[in-house]
Amino acid sequence: MNMPKIFCAVDTDEIEHAKTLIRILSETGIGIKLGLEFFNHFGPDGIEDAMSVAPDSPLFLDLKFHDIPNTVAGAIRATSHRLKPAYLNVHAAGGLEMMTQAKAACYGESKLLAVTVLTSLDDIALLQVGQQAPATVQVETLAKLTQQAGLDGVVCSSKEIEVLRTACGDDFVLMTPGIRPAGASMDDQKRVMTPKCALDLGATHLVIGRPITKADDPKQAVHEILESL
Ligand code: C5P
Repeated sequence: MNMPKIFCAVDTDEIEHAKTLIRILSETGIGIKLGLEFFNHFGPDGIEDAMSVAPDSPLFLDLKFHDIPNTVAGAIRATSHRLKPAYLNVHAAGGLEMMTQAKAACYGESKLLAVTVLTSLDDIALLQVGQQAPATVQVETLAKLTQQAGLDGVVCSSKEIEVLRTACGDDFVLMTPGIRPAGASMDDQKRVMTPKCALDLGATHLVIGRPITKADDPKQAVHEILESL
């Protein structure tokens, strides 16, 4: 499968709305990201149902598994067999053994990513949970551990792209949210980067949600983003 540069975050608790968006977006060739909110509303049946309108669209299943190795491996085995996502993910903080077993359980062509440090955690919050600060140090430590475990890449913020591209090399996937086309609303994102800038710095894929899903014409919004690259 030829991987698109953009995965659109379809964050909604209305399945018919999700299906309408996914069908429209499938005509642009971009991928679809479905996450915890959608999964917990509709379950694996809902994911299958939503993606049935776009059978050729790559899916990034953003469920961020974090548990003991055997349990995470079982979850990865189940989701990769049944839903065949292009990408799925775990928390790197689950450790080397957990990530190694998760990767071994990952079936077919699904690629496995890790989340390093949630961008909602600042340095004080990191210290509160006993992790090293500044966050940038912890991000690099966990990205290298992810690579050691044989995973395909990490989810990272735009400000981490450069340092991780240098630390982890060219074959490591960097999936980057917090992207806003020039002039778009920030919504609740605090630090954003344009699509072109993030790709120029070395991001492999961009996760873009509301600038597409809330646009009057989502297909046109995708075309404008693709033209800006
Ligand atoms: O609508 P927007 O473009 O802000 O959506 C970004 C998507 O990426 C959302 O699904 C959000 O949960 C996810 N995400 C993020 N920042 C992170 C990790 C994931 O915005 N650090």
